[in-house]
Amino acid sequence: MSEVVTVVGALWGDEGKGKFVNFMCQEVEADIAVRYSGGANAGHNIVLPSGERYTFRLLPTGSVTPGVVAVLGAGMVIDPQTLVEEIKVVKKHNPEFHLVIDFRAHMIFPFHRTTDAKRESLRKEQIGTTHSGIGTAFADKANRVGMRMEDLLLEPEEILAKVTSLAEQHGSSNRPILRDIKKLRRELYDYIADGAKYINRQIEAGKSVVFAGAQGFMLDVDYGTYPFVTSTSCLPSGVGSGAGVDPRKVDQIIGVVKAYCTRIGEGPFPTEISGDTAETIRTLGNEYEHGVYINRPRRIGWLDLKYLELSCLVGGYDFLAVTMLDVVGQLDKIHLPGIGWFDGWDCSKLGDAEDTSDLPPELLKYLGAIEAVAGVPIGLISTGPGNEQVIDVRGRKIW
Ligand code: GTP
Ligand code: IMP
Ligand code: MG
Repeated sequence: MSEVVTVVGALWGDEGKGKFVNFMCQEVEADIAVRYSGGANAGHNIVLPSGERYTFRLLPTGSVTPGVVAVLGAGMVIDPQTLVEEIKVVKKHNPEFHLVIDFRAHMIFPFHRTTDAKRESLRKEQIGTTHSGIGTAFADKANRVGMRMEDLLLEPEEILAKVTSLAEQHGSSNRPILRDIKKLRRELYDYIADGAKYINRQIEAGKSVVFAGAQGFMLDVDYGTYPFVTSTSCLPSGVGSGAGVDPRKVDQIIGVVKAYCTRIGEGPFPTEISGDTAETIRTLGNEYEHGVYINRPRRIGWLDLKYLELSCLVGGYDFLAVTMLDVVGQLDKIHLPGIGWFDGWDCSKLGDAEDTSDLPPELLKYLGAIEAVAGVPIGLISTGPGNEQVIDVRGRKIW
């Protein structure tokens, strides 16, 4: 049966969304995996069946699954060079890989990244962007001067003239040369199409689709901690504008949330902690941003239930997927601000747990407290990095 699913980050992203996009692609036997907003920022990490780790920045993580067509929606800003490189890697794992790029998506060029870094350095209070040029490309889009993927269908000389003109508007002499433009055009030409039409036709034909959101609710340009946010929609409703799909066609919305919080970049983080406990979580959870243009430790905090409640209310999730329980459980004491302290639990066999009866009672108590505030049921529990390390509790009352 066809299923249409959206997977988003419930707080500040880096919550394991990549794992659950891949997981849901397998569960619903997805025909299509779609990204509908954002650009090539810090990335989604997954562990491939071969055990290899791979970081996706543009393509949805389901792209490694044979038979899944990847779509990059109209709401994205795409760095074409990064995309070409990512396609090469995915093709190694999935030789039948096929991609549809909505012709309406915008393009990021190197001068967007330079402007991003320059604007950051000029701000009194920095946002802490990923320096990927995302905000500056979205600014060009809003200013109606941006270049779209459809521009790659022009003759190479025309493309170069457009890029050169845009580079000049950025005060940059850093612009592609004709040979590089021709190469990009050749590599991406066949993938550029009407993505919105494609997805809608596929849904009408009864195909299964997984939409992958970008970052997380608290980084949404409207509902996040503005101005310390990204420049696009991180909400599930973003599929409307970002993929051209009526959100009512989505059967299930999944909010992925980590059992503690992290944030990269500046801005409010009410439950932030420092010192030994923060360092322990950072080390156990490998909480570092491994960006292309920037690497930094992630800020650490307790799970923010106040923001989670808002995220569930506005996001309209059908259920939550909670990750990193094998990390936070290693602490002696875990705090849920506004509620109290909880005992840690035995994590030594957590990765092998197959059902809730294998889960420690302290862990179940912690999840129960989260669910009571969130107002949305917890449906999936992640007990380790692997795709199979998931316990399905949908429709069950276990705490
Ligand atoms: P988004 O940025 O929200 O898309 O998530 P992400 O996938 O990018 O998160 P991140 O970059 O932080 O990667 C999460 C990492 O944690 C990946 O390497 C996952 O394999 C891993 N991971 C996911 N869930 C769990 C879990 O429950 N326990 C552990 N130990 N690792 C996990
Ligand atoms: P930008 O999207 O690079 O402009 O960054 C804007 C804000 O979003 C900054 O606080 C970034 O740290 C944050 N951000 C961007 N991409 C990611 C991501 O993939 N994970 C977590 N935070 C991100
Ligand atoms: Mg990430």
